[in-house]
Amino acid sequence: MYRILVHFILRVNDSEESWRKSMEIYNIPEIARNVFGVGSKDWNRRIFDSLIPLPEGTSYNSYLVKGEKKTALIDTVNPGFEEELEAKINMVSDLKKLDYLIMNHAEPDHANAIRFILEKAPEALFVTTKKGVKMAKLYHELPEARIKIVAEGDSLDLGGKTLRFIEAPWLHWPETMFTYLPEDKVLFSCDFFGAHTAQGVYDEEIEELVSLAKRYYGEIMMPFGKMGARALEKIKDLGIEIIAPSHGPIYKNPKRILDPYEKWTQGKTENKALIVYVSMWGSTREMIRTIAETLLKEGVDVRMYDLVASDIGDVARELVDSRSIVLGAPTVLGGMHPLALYGTYLVKALNPPAKYGVVLGSFGWGGGALKQAGELLAPSKIEIVGTLQVQGRASREKLKKVEEIGRELARKMKT
Ligand code: FEO
Repeated sequence: MYRILVHFILRVNDSEESWRKSMEIYNIPEIARNVFGVGSKDWNRRIFDSLIPLPEGTSYNSYLVKGEKKTALIDTVNPGFEEELEAKINMVSDLKKLDYLIMNHAEPDHANAIRFILEKAPEALFVTTKKGVKMAKLYHELPEARIKIVAEGDSLDLGGKTLRFIEAPWLHWPETMFTYLPEDKVLFSCDFFGAHTAQGVYDEEIEELVSLAKRYYGEIMMPFGKMGARALEKIKDLGIEIIAPSHGPIYKNPKRILDPYEKWTQGKTENKALIVYVSMWGSTREMIRTIAETLLKEGVDVRMYDLVASDIGDVARELVDSRSIVLGAPTVLGGMHPLALYGTYLVKALNPPAKYGVVLGSFGWGGGALKQAGELLAPSKIEIVGTLQVQGRASREKLKKVEEIGRELARKMKT
């Protein structure tokens, strides 16, 4: 890798966007010969999709591939980073002479600058699959005459470098695809293999990267595990040496992410119970603590999150390989506490591989949480091993019942 440095002017400005536009120095990693990372780091972004917390920010990775005859840009950047992308491309090439803009995925964090780039590069063709065109048209204006549709196995010859297209649908939108550069054995995988962090350039720089990638997998890819397994099968014999995703560091050690993805996409679980709960006056908490201690005593790995103060990304990460889920949901106005309802909805939507579940809760004068939780979880494949709803504070007898449910859950989890 070499880094291109020019002098920079730093103007004091309250606005981060203005600050970014004033930059005249950029790190542009050369991830393989004549393959450059020209995307952006969004250090301070703290929420994605108005849902997913980003404790370490994120990056929108875009890659420029320079062949002997042609140049291609693979994916673009989030709104607000267009000028940075333009400046970086012009530091290693000439944007006006760009030949191809490849779109692996139409979501605006990677595709929003399509129109910007096509206006700056008047000869460039917009390259994606048939499904890609359909999705891109929903969000971006495309010049019809400049669309080039590709399909599985098609390739573009850039002169000494080839871009081969691999359809990888539903990771996590219908149109997603990978682009492979066989001469340098680089896979451009877009969201797949990504991690939300602005830290680092290469995987070896981030010790906790697999944990971050697992959190990302739980949030984005877990509902599409089967499609992920199919995609892994397609790429297994390519001899990939570099994985260049669109969020987070680039993998110089592909095995570091391929091995966990193999396990996660197959839904392999650990002897681990994820406990998520809400408690208003401590009654549900007492039941939750009782089952947690019982499970620990039985040798089960326990992860516990109070939904009042938890990062949903941590919960998503633990859902990836927890064998059971324990839900603590008190009743409020005839149904589940809204935070427990939110947590249960997320569990259902993320489609985790958990096999077993327990629902515990308390109420003052009329139940309802348990019934609602049962209805919500009924379509899932989670077997409910035990439920208990108590009025007011749990008596010693009721806590003994919680212990019994915990032991039964531990027994099931071991078989
Ligand atoms: Fe990073 Fe699905 O966009």
